[in-house]
Amino acid sequence: EKIFLNGELISSHEATISVFDRGFLFGDGIYEVMVQLENGLFYKDAHWERLQRNLDKIGIAYDVTEMEAQLDPLLVSSNLTNKPCLIYMQVTRGVAPRKHAFPKDVPPTVMMYALPYTLPHINSKSSHAILRSDNRWLRCDIKSISLLGNVMANERAMEENADEAVLVRDGFITEGSHTNIFFVKSGKVYTHPANQLILDGITRKIVLKLCEDLDIPMMEKAIGVDEIDDMDEAFLTGTTTQIASIAKLGDHIYHTPDAIGPITKKLQQAFADLKN
Ligand code: PDD
Repeated sequence: EKIFLNGELISSHEATISVFDRGFLFGDGIYEVMVQLENGLFYKDAHWERLQRNLDKIGIAYDVTEMEAQLDPLLVSSNLTNKPCLIYMQVTRGVAPRKHAFPKDVPPTVMMYALPYTLPHINSKSSHAILRSDNRWLRCDIKSISLLGNVMANERAMEENADEAVLVRDGFITEGSHTNIFFVKSGKVYTHPANQLILDGITRKIVLKLCEDLDIPMMEKAIGVDEIDDMDEAFLTGTTTQIASIAKLGDHIYHTPDAIGPITKKLQQAFADLKN
């Protein structure tokens, strides 16, 4: 495997990072995940733009067009040109003695790799999600590499043989540990507003656009944990998740394994069409 690290394409066993890297010491960095399908990179511009926007938000001076230019050579050397794969990109604030304040004139650590990865068929599996309290910080709009709140919640889901942990803050559903969440009630679609309490997912945006195209009414409004039982359908969205119907959320059962709700199904179909 080849890794793009600080301007060079090197093999994975040669790709090393200093113990003084601020990503390692502080979790001081931004990441991004996108997929390549057989017909090309899926919504690549949205991913590059989000990476740039997030770096700008935390004050890491780096122009992602440099990374973008290295993606083709990376795919070529990884033997993944035109092949389904997952691309991970990460930029940290660089290497410096451990002090909280930003170091001056230190170049960021820039890393990107691609691994073979095939997305599952969109509606092949329904999800079981547990509810967990949202213990993360208050800037969840930033795609920070500090993901302790997310991984602890997700680990709990795994322990309970569930697929995802759905997070609750102040009585309202925010998002999943690595997904956004949508609800459907009386034909109308609801999802949390894109504020500082959630990551504004690219799949989330695609789904909102599909609702518009398909004349499905939608509203960006947080759903209360006490409203879960009143909803007709629920689904998760994410780059690797796509659109996954939720069969069970906490104690509430939305459907038996195969009986995916009509709006979720319609959106899954429309999403699958986007990939062709
Ligand atoms: N998840 N919310 C959180 C906390 C996430 O980590 C992610 C991304 C999403 C969905 O965002 P998008 O649709 O842009 O992937 C929401 C990882 C990267 C994933 O699903 O693969």
